[in-house]
Amino acid sequence: MELNTIERDDIGAAAEDLVVPPAATRKVFVKTYGCQMNVYDSQRMTDALAIDGYAATDAIGEADLVLLNTCHIREKAAEKVYSELGRIRELKAERAKAGREMLVGVAGCVAQAEGAEIIRRSPAVDLVIGPQTYHRLPAVLAKARSGEKIVETDYAVEDKFEHLPQPKRAELIRRGVTAFLTVQEGCDKFCTFCVVPYTRGSEVSRPVAQIVAEAERLADAGVREVTLLGQNVNAWHGRGEDSEEWGLGRLLFRLAEIPGLARLRYTTSHPRDMDDELIAAHRDLPALMPYLHLPVQSGSDRILKAMNRRHMAKDYLTLIDRIRAARNDIALSGDFIVGFPGETEADFEATMQLVEDVNYASAFSFKYSPRPGTPGAEMNDQVPEAVKDERLQRLQALLLKQQQHFGASLVGKTIDTLVEKPGRQAGQKVGRSPWLQPVIVDEKAGEIGDIIRVRITKTGYNSLFAELA
Ligand code: 5AD
Ligand code: SF4
Repeated sequence: MELNTIERDDIGAAAEDLVVPPAATRKVFVKTYGCQMNVYDSQRMTDALAIDGYAATDAIGEADLVLLNTCHIREKAAEKVYSELGRIRELKAERAKAGREMLVGVAGCVAQAEGAEIIRRSPAVDLVIGPQTYHRLPAVLAKARSGEKIVETDYAVEDKFEHLPQPKRAELIRRGVTAFLTVQEGCDKFCTFCVVPYTRGSEVSRPVAQIVAEAERLADAGVREVTLLGQNVNAWHGRGEDSEEWGLGRLLFRLAEIPGLARLRYTTSHPRDMDDELIAAHRDLPALMPYLHLPVQSGSDRILKAMNRRHMAKDYLTLIDRIRAARNDIALSGDFIVGFPGETEADFEATMQLVEDVNYASAFSFKYSPRPGTPGAEMNDQVPEAVKDERLQRLQALLLKQQQHFGASLVGKTIDTLVEKPGRQAGQKVGRSPWLQPVIVDEKAGEIGDIIRVRITKTGYNSLFAELA
């Protein structure tokens, strides 16, 4: 097959000349792009590879396997991957000259979306593996090691999570006191700008027992804070231990019972799926942190309709009121897209107005990027780049002002902080506020994993400084 033969010559050595390291001394370098789900997936792939004899390394030059876990959400994300592959190709050639093999794999959403095109465009790549098939990684690698080029982008029928090995306890301990746990994957919403329904497939919820078992393992390894992940996490549902159908609210109550788990979060949510039980969890569950990422994308009803968001601006604002009534110290975060096709100045003003009305503690905002295969990319009235730039600047200035205002409002207040890791400067440790800000404290303020009461003394650009209360 053409794909099998492309590049070995290119890198100056034939496959059979290269030294294939024995299992247990192999090293894998993983680079992760994009969202937290990719961070979680990279860990699970690393766990699967550990069983296959690969130890993780931070030094790409010594890697027998380089794995890029990619993101396709916006154009630049994929372009970054292609330019990284260009650099890796040179490293691979250098290693080949030294008689060492370097397999190159592309995983994640670019892998799913582009498939074999990646190998055509970046011939140094040996394997392309989509997000639904990570449990097949060891088998795919075995083939790649024998010189085959592999593209594995099926939506696997088996449950990937059931087949992915769990990490060793020591490895979990090494990863620290906060952890991600994917509970839901994929999306059935089909917002017209978004590739996720195509790259991650339709919505799948992991079963309760699997989630509880994984959370218990994390807690047993000292994890204090778990963030439940899903592209549409609040659409999670499953049959509970009482045989009833649970939603995310019930699941959160169940996870809060696990000894040691002090803090829970979830991300990312769709406004349509914020049900009463989940809002009640914000009111009644102290472990559920008062921070909610609830993307709205636009404040214009016309644009929301064109985006197929299935709600109007008013619905979102009413929802925010209900959530704030349940938990008045909740901090809100959101995602925004400027320059969606057809967006006029008036539409954009409506977004600015919505931001003023909500008052966000943090937010992410992006220029619309047409994604191949999505309805938005086919729409006629694309907005010129310069207009997108200008709108993004105005929106980001407003969001930054709100974020700084939120930070400043905490000065003098006493809050709980989870001590997370050593600080960048000697004598400091970094903790996490309930609202996800880094909190810098004296290293003697507490041990890693402790939740300490601190008084905020001042704000940094993105962080808070505090002393023991
Ligand atoms: N262009 C720009 N931003 C996008 N997002 C998703 N798709 C696009 C796109 N085509 C943003 C949305 C989403 C976040 C994860 O990325 O705001 O909530
Ligand atoms: Fe994309 Fe919309 Fe699904 Fe979110 S809800 S993943 S933005 S399609």
